[in-house]
Amino acid sequence: MQKLLIGNTWVEAQAGRSFETRNPATGELLCRVAEGDAADIDLAVRAARKAFEGPWRTFKPNQRQNLLLKLADLVEENYEALCVLDTLDMGVPMRRTLGNRHRVVNTIRYYAGQAMSIHGETIENSLEGEYFTCALKEPVGVVGAIIPWNSPLYQTLKKIAVCAATGCTLVLKPSEEAPLTPLRLAELCLEAGFPPGVLNVVTGFGATAGAHLAAHPDVDKVAFTGSHFTGQKIIQASTGNVKRLSIELGGKSPNIIFADADLDKAVPGAAMAVFNNAGQICCAGTRMYVERSIYDEFVARVARFGNSLRVGNGLDPDTEMGPLVSEKQLERVTGYLKRGQEEGANAASGGGRLTEGAYAKGFFVAPTVFSQVSDDMTIAREEIFGPVISALPFDEIDDVVQRANDTIFGLGGGVWTRDVGKAHKVARRIRAGTVWVNAYNVLDPAVPFGGYKMSGYGREGGMHHVDEFLQTKALIVNTD
Ligand code: NAI
Ligand code: MG
Repeated sequence: MQKLLIGNTWVEAQAGRSFETRNPATGELLCRVAEGDAADIDLAVRAARKAFEGPWRTFKPNQRQNLLLKLADLVEENYEALCVLDTLDMGVPMRRTLGNRHRVVNTIRYYAGQAMSIHGETIENSLEGEYFTCALKEPVGVVGAIIPWNSPLYQTLKKIAVCAATGCTLVLKPSEEAPLTPLRLAELCLEAGFPPGVLNVVTGFGATAGAHLAAHPDVDKVAFTGSHFTGQKIIQASTGNVKRLSIELGGKSPNIIFADADLDKAVPGAAMAVFNNAGQICCAGTRMYVERSIYDEFVARVARFGNSLRVGNGLDPDTEMGPLVSEKQLERVTGYLKRGQEEGANAASGGGRLTEGAYAKGFFVAPTVFSQVSDDMTIAREEIFGPVISALPFDEIDDVVQRANDTIFGLGGGVWTRDVGKAHKVARRIRAGTVWVNAYNVLDPAVPFGGYKMSGYGREGGMHHVDEFLQTKALIVNTD
């Protein structure tokens, strides 16, 4: 059984309970994992507080940087094994995660750099008398991170890296659907030399462990990634001690294809903006707006691309799309597929679960492109989190911009055109945290990522991210 990490010791849950984690490609039991709840969160928060008030405080920026550089080396050495764990636990194709090696390792090294770049400012004041005034930057304190299952390796690393860079301490609550990679990463952190209490990992369920962490009076900040329903609960739970928050929620992102785009690039680009990770991506470009003159041809090509994808067990190096994470998610997604057809959309590709042969035991859904979609259909409004594209025709810029923005979300968006002026104009008008031009889902650790509207607030990546884990302290010294 996998245990909890509290103060650098691996322990069972106080209540002695555990839960199963399964392989979504085969339905097989992988192992049991300790089921932490409120009592374990309390111990983890205490360990994190002790570390924050104690030895971790005395770590110099270069020492924190060295820890992160060591961790980056370890992650690089163990990268393939970490990818295998992600695939076993939540189904992502190895082909995808192995391709992200450079970005994942670079992310840790980026934050290692940030550890030695934290600085405040001196301020000229107009006070009567002699005063020195400055603004200092200090770590926020004990951070609770609650993460989803769609990208366990990357999500965990980002939280660990920003906390170590800024001098915060961390209690991590992984998703109950994919706890294995976070636990392995915690082992690597110990190997890198993280002192006791700097990283604590409490596996368990959202309603118990997660909710207690979110409401904990001794947690200074919560960084949450997940659904907007849970995000709203996290915000409510934060009010008890007025916690700081970073909230990264879902999306229903528009991907706009103009007739003058390079279609040979836009077809795979628009398809993989959703089919990547079987659509389990928060910024997936699920509302595909296509200029009417190319609508039929483009939709047919994206559907063909979807049909040609090799769907299967993510451990197979040829697999391009894996299963959904769980039976629950399978039910959600197939429910939307049914709803789409009932509301009058046409499945140009896919449209249902895959059940033949090796698919029978896993949670596989065919890459689906819906045509004849209108903006008011459920499939065009709600986040499905599966391999489902809704294709909508448009006639001109004002119309498509207005429709693209007619959503509660604002996480991502795409524009495909050869006209650089049009690209800039449309990109500026999309109300979303990230807009890609002639690309999609491209991420870099130095570039901010986050949401407008109900996709949340706060940014991951770049100096904005670092700043969210820092407090600002004014210091006013009478020098007379
Ligand atoms: P979720 O929001 O329920 O879970 C995310 C994390 O929050 C998990 O660690 C979970 O244990 C925890 N959690 C759940 N309830 C909690 C509570 N009351 N207090 C504190 N923590 C809590 O997301 P779930 O069920 O995994 O997926 C449901 C839907 O959410 C997906 O179908 C998708 O639409 C969306 N989603 C969006 C993600 C994103 O990256 N934006 C990631 C995962 C899911
Ligand atoms: Mg699992």
